[in-house]
Amino acid sequence: MAARDRSVGLTLEALEEPDLMVQVSPLMSPLVWDLAHIGNYEELWLLRAAAGQEAMRPEIDDLYDAFEHPRAERPKLPLLTPAESRAYIDTVRAKVLDSLEKVPLTGPLAAGGFVYGMVIQHEHQHDETMLATHQLRKDGPTLLDPSPEDAPAGAPALAGHEVLVEAGPFVMGTSDDPWAYDNERGAHTVDLPAFFIDVTPVSNAAYLAFMDDGGYDDPRWWHPDGWEWRTRTGKRSPAFWRRENGQWLRRRFGRVEPVPFDEPVQHVCWYEADAYARWAGKRLPTEAEWEKAASWDPDTRRKRRLPWGDSGEHANLGQRMMRPAPVGSYADGASAYGVRQLLGDVWEWTSSDFHGYPGFRAFPYKEYSEVFFGTDYKVLRGGSWATHPLACRTTFRNWDYPIRRQIFAGFRCARDAA
Ligand SMILES: [Fe+2]
Repeated sequence: MAARDRSVGLTLEALEEPDLMVQVSPLMSPLVWDLAHIGNYEELWLLRAAAGQEAMRPEIDDLYDAFEHPRAERPKLPLLTPAESRAYIDTVRAKVLDSLEKVPLTGPLAAGGFVYGMVIQHEHQHDETMLATHQLRKDGPTLLDPSPEDAPAGAPALAGHEVLVEAGPFVMGTSDDPWAYDNERGAHTVDLPAFFIDVTPVSNAAYLAFMDDGGYDDPRWWHPDGWEWRTRTGKRSPAFWRRENGQWLRRRFGRVEPVPFDEPVQHVCWYEADAYARWAGKRLPTEAEWEKAASWDPDTRRKRRLPWGDSGEHANLGQRMMRPAPVGSYADGASAYGVRQLLGDVWEWTSSDFHGYPGFRAFPYKEYSEVFFGTDYKVLRGGSWATHPLACRTTFRNWDYPIRRQIFAGFRCARDAA
């Protein structure tokens, strides 16, 4: 129900009906598509698959199947209107609540409540996608912005600091987290050489130093495909930034404001992150390095579900602040190695392509992750300020094309210890 309040807050309560039908970018769906798709996914998995009920409206299944229709063509579909979408998702939810006590939490799909966790995480993941859609809108503010006083204090002196993660094995992935997706399974031992990793994500101030040093003009720092992207697109700053009267400004949910130097940089693509790291004499961490720094406790030789332990929340998650917290925030959220802000704030690009772990088995459907395996996508870790805590843990994996900038992504650097 909390997820549903969030979805409604980002759609029906945020915009007028015609604006919900509009596509603001070919990268995104009209918001009304996300809304009805959330309900259709819930119907598919909780009413039909788990509770064995008949399809409510089989004629709309095709419209809301993400694999039948790429985002670019969704506005041309005969979508349900916002009012029809609301009625549909409300009916699905009422039936789900009616069926709850009749569905045994056994069998591959429902054991441990997995299918319910999958549907809740799916809704929260779409809510983050909706926030990215709002960020791409060109007109004025539509979402409330909490006051800056809510931001925790940062520790800017930590920017650029690194810690050593000693050589040795750790456990990557999970076999027992009940809500983990197929791509996080199973737990397996990975032996890594020693490496250094930054204590905080790269800040806007540090990224500006790269820009001021001509980073966007020097092919030495860029992956060949990144240099091709850079020259073809003419990009010279993170997305949503512009320079006015000698000052860097950014547009954030329809508000224009000075770029805050102490926040982690966001809205940079993988190629920009990779170029910055090379300029800084470092590199992006592999996803195994990221997960070891985030989850491994070298003293107890045990894996933590969250950087700071197995429960609690010491991170900027769940759309509370509508932006990243200053670098060095959340000392209580540090990992066993003393690395901060691994969860929340910004998704972090890693150097790794997206592949299945040893023994990977698609579950419950191969379109969740298996169809994306290969060299086209780079893995992101850690979630952003827009990611809900229920869809975030040290094993969680996200992926996107290396040119994508609309997601709430930044990065931190690493380097070999040798
Ligand atoms: Fe979806």
